[in-house]
Amino acid sequence: MNHTEDFSLRMEQLVRECEAALDKYLPDPDSMPAGEAPAATAARAMRYSVMAGGKRLRPLLIARISDLYGGRRALAEPFMAALEMIHSYSLVHDDLPAMDDDEYRRGRKTTHIVFGEGMAVLAGDGLLNFAYETALTAFDAARTPAETAAVVRALRILSGNAGIYGMVGGQCADLEAENRGQEITGETLEYIHSHKTACMIRSAFQIGAVLAGAPESDIERLGNIAVRIGIAFQIQDDVLDVTGDSEELGKPTGSDEQEGKSTYVSLYGIEKAVEKVRLLTDEALADYESLTVRDDFLRALLEQLVSRRK
Ligand code: IPE
Ligand code: IPE
Ligand code: MG
Ligand code: MG
Ligand code: MG
Repeated sequence: MNHTEDFSLRMEQLVRECEAALDKYLPDPDSMPAGEAPAATAARAMRYSVMAGGKRLRPLLIARISDLYGGRRALAEPFMAALEMIHSYSLVHDDLPAMDDDEYRRGRKTTHIVFGEGMAVLAGDGLLNFAYETALTAFDAARTPAETAAVVRALRILSGNAGIYGMVGGQCADLEAENRGQEITGETLEYIHSHKTACMIRSAFQIGAVLAGAPESDIERLGNIAVRIGIAFQIQDDVLDVTGDSEELGKPTGSDEQEGKSTYVSLYGIEKAVEKVRLLTDEALADYESLTVRDDFLRALLEQLVSRRK
C-alpha cells in the first residue's frame, strides 16, 4: 500500500470515530428523555447541522494527538464531540442573515433555511451548552487525580478558546470589519484570523496533549504550531471563497465579497495569500520536528491543509 492510500484510510477511520462519538452524545429527537418531547425540534436542528458531514478536523486532531502521547480515548472522546459541537454552533450562527447570510453549508441548506432563524439560534445555543454537558462526562472516565486535573485543564482550554477572548472575539472583529475595505490594518486582520479560527484549532491540539499527559514543553509548542496552522487554514478558506468550487466546498463561493468581508485576499490579493499559507505551514512543520514525539500521519495532515480544496 502506498503512503497516500495509507493516509486516506487512516483519515477515513478517524472521521468515522469522530462521527460515532457525535452520534453517541447528541440528543436524539426521536427518543427524548421523559417529559422533554417539546424540545425535539431544537434537538433535530442540532443534529441536522452537526451530522451534515464536514471535515471533522478539530476532533480528529484531538484523537490523533491524544493517541500520539499514549492518552486514553475514554477521556478524549467527550472532548472530541464537544469541540465539534461548538464548532458546528459557530457555523450555524455564522450563516445567519445577521452575520454572513449564507444558504449552503456542508453540502446542504443551512439550518436557518430549513428550520427558521429562531430555531437556528436555539440549535446553536443548544449545541454550545450541550458541548459542556458532554465534555463534563470526561470526569466519569477519569481514573486518577492526575486525569481529573487534566480534564479540568482541558475544560479551561475548551471554554477559553471558544469564548470572548477566543472565537467569539474573532467573530466580533470580523463583523465590525465588514465593508471597511483598506481601512483594516494587517494587525486587525491577524486578530480576526488568530481568534475566530486559530483558537479553536489550538484548542484541539492542546486538549489532545493535555488529556494524554504530554510534556509541558510539547503542549506549549503544539499551541504555537496550531496558531500558525489555524491562521493558514483561515487564509486558505478565504482563498477558496474566491478560487474554490462550491460543490466541492459544500458552501457558496463569493460570499466574502458579497458581504464586504475583510480577508487576507481582499487586503493583499490571491498570490500573496497563497504564499502566506505556504510560509505559515512551513514554519509550523519546522516547529513540529522539535516535538518529543512525531508521526507521519500528523505531518502529512499539516502538509495537506495547504493544498486543500475543501
Ligand atoms: C469552516 O471550518 C469555518 C472556518 C474556520 C474556516 P471548516 O472548514 O473546518 O468546516 P467543516 O467543519 O469542514 O464544515
Ligand atoms: C468563520 O469564518 C469562522 C467561524 C468562527 C465560524 P468564515 O465565515 O470565513 O467561515 P465560512 O467560510 O462561512 O465557513
Ligand atoms: Mg464569518
Ligand atoms: Mg461565513
Ligand atoms: Mg470563509
